[in-house]
Amino acid sequence: MAIRDVLRMGDPRLLAPARPVGDFGSPELAQLIVDMHDTMRALNGAGLAAPQIGVGLQVVMFEVNVDPRQLNPRYPDAESVPFTVLINPVLTPLSDEMETDWEGCLSVPGMRGRVPRHVALRYQGHDAAGRPIDRSVSGFHARVVQHEVDHLNGILYPMRIRDLRDFGFTDVLFPGQHLQDD
Ligand code: NI
Repeated sequence: MAIRDVLRMGDPRLLAPARPVGDFGSPELAQLIVDMHDTMRALNGAGLAAPQIGVGLQVVMFEVNVDPRQLNPRYPDAESVPFTVLINPVLTPLSDEMETDWEGCLSVPGMRGRVPRHVALRYQGHDAAGRPIDRSVSGFHARVVQHEVDHLNGILYPMRIRDLRDFGFTDVLFPGQHLQDD
């Protein structure tokens, strides 16, 4: 078990485009995925991208469990998203429809912003063993994927906020809701 430090906004490593993974099944890739999973779980993140722990590879993971015995306290109203490791992802929007909603990020702790995202998209890529993944999703699932894949292109969600009045500290925006810091 290795919980890694998550880089915070301002670190130039978060702005660098990530490289594709070429060697599936390597011990290094397996260890990276274990470390990312441990880190995401420890911080109650809905997702994590490899650049957030300083690794410039196209690897993201996400999971939202709405089982009440294992609720994600950062996203209490989110729909369930199965744990997914997505490598070398390609996103294709399924319509022009956009939806603006709140997001947070482990690299921008203590804050939330309202971000426009495609409502529905197809995502393709590979899992940790190199098997193909091809899913068409919508809603929160689609939002999480877009947020994580943005990290692989050096984009943090505040860069996508259209009106900075839609950006603020979590405990001020949502007083009394006891959302976690980040
Ligand atoms: Ni993030």
